[in-house]
Amino acid sequence: MSGDNALRIAIVGLGTVGGGVIRLLKTNQALIARRAGRPITIAAISARDRAKDRGVDLSPYEWVDDMSDLAARDDIDAIVELIGGADGPALTLARQCLAAHKPFVTANKAMIAHHGLGLAKDAEKAGVALKYEAAVAGGIPVIKGLREGVAANAISRVYGILNGTCNYILTTMEKDGHAFADVLKDAQDLGYAEIDPTFDIDGIDAAHKLSILASLSFGTALDFDNVETTGIRHIIAADIAEAAALGFRIRLVGMAETVDGELFQRVHPMLVPMGHPLSHVDGPLNAVVTEGNFVGRLFFQGAGAGDGPTASAVVADLIDVARGEYGPAFAMPVDSLDRLPPARTGKRAGRVYLRFRVKDEPGVLAEIAAATRDAGVSIESLIQRGATDTDSVLVVIVTHVSAESCVNDTLGRLRGSDSLLDEPLVLHILD
Ligand code: HSE
Repeated sequence: MSGDNALRIAIVGLGTVGGGVIRLLKTNQALIARRAGRPITIAAISARDRAKDRGVDLSPYEWVDDMSDLAARDDIDAIVELIGGADGPALTLARQCLAAHKPFVTANKAMIAHHGLGLAKDAEKAGVALKYEAAVAGGIPVIKGLREGVAANAISRVYGILNGTCNYILTTMEKDGHAFADVLKDAQDLGYAEIDPTFDIDGIDAAHKLSILASLSFGTALDFDNVETTGIRHIIAADIAEAAALGFRIRLVGMAETVDGELFQRVHPMLVPMGHPLSHVDGPLNAVVTEGNFVGRLFFQGAGAGDGPTASAVVADLIDVARGEYGPAFAMPVDSLDRLPPARTGKRAGRVYLRFRVKDEPGVLAEIAAATRDAGVSIESLIQRGATDTDSVLVVIVTHVSAESCVNDTLGRLRGSDSLLDEPLVLHILD
């Protein structure tokens, strides 16, 4: 196939994913050209540190120190941004690229979550593609799945495991019983974690991704600021063990729904029943479940991070660009997206897991039970395991279905109690 009509790209940012994209474009060169209808060639590469060993031969490609000229170059047709970060150089590059009427491909979930609507508008004005398949769930083609595959459906709910680092930590703690901090270190060494791991463990990375899935699913404007977000740093090994004893696994779940004209978006560790497909999603895998009114329930699962899977998503976007496929980044023009208010969550109802660390003294259990009674929360199960070598004890309660306002009322009634040794943990149950 002749190279005259090649899609000539610049890749900016050469970390794990950048190296993967170069390797993939080289390894599957002929196949990609057949699928795209033309070759995809690398016209320029750019990153902060030229000397760094990336395990891939960069000598065939033009190295550019100053990326600010790339958008204006006539010999570059599209730019791939793999720098990361919501603002700064990545955003500048995106705006320059779209202003120059060039397609822009990114793996940057933070930038899309914060600035996706503005960038999508720029892309609409320019009549070019803004593509971000790699921004959510690594190699799983969930953006295409939602944007194209289920475009004919009204979607009622989208939820899933959106952060490989947290899933790796939770499942490794479950299997090996290792402490949170040690497992986090392993996840970083394995290349799953963000540069700033608080983005992973505090749920922010998953919240970025959830806000994108919600917009695509419901035709609503991105609303990252209203994703209620709780991470996993308060989960202790005993929670995992007690959850297992009760028939659950703990997973960080992002969930979005539209309810009565309001947009519910929440990322939080949940108890997932052992029979639910999400409970079998282990290690750094991600999974997304969506429910459409004609298609029914769909379950996507695969690698949520890593060079190969993420490169696979980036290059899929490049193949679309090479084919000339473009269209609204969020499945409809930005001006058509609904602006829904955030959901008021007090009236939401479900079962919850409550864990208290309390003094091992007479009356403490009665105090907790009185608080649930007075708040109108009914207890389904209760576990207290005696410890001989300490004067504190864990009390774990699973409630019957209760309004969130009543659960909050229970905790309010116990706030400041001398019997409680630290903040109670509340985990919702995925029913
Ligand atoms: N840090 C992310 C994760 C990488 O752990 O899922 C992919 O976005």
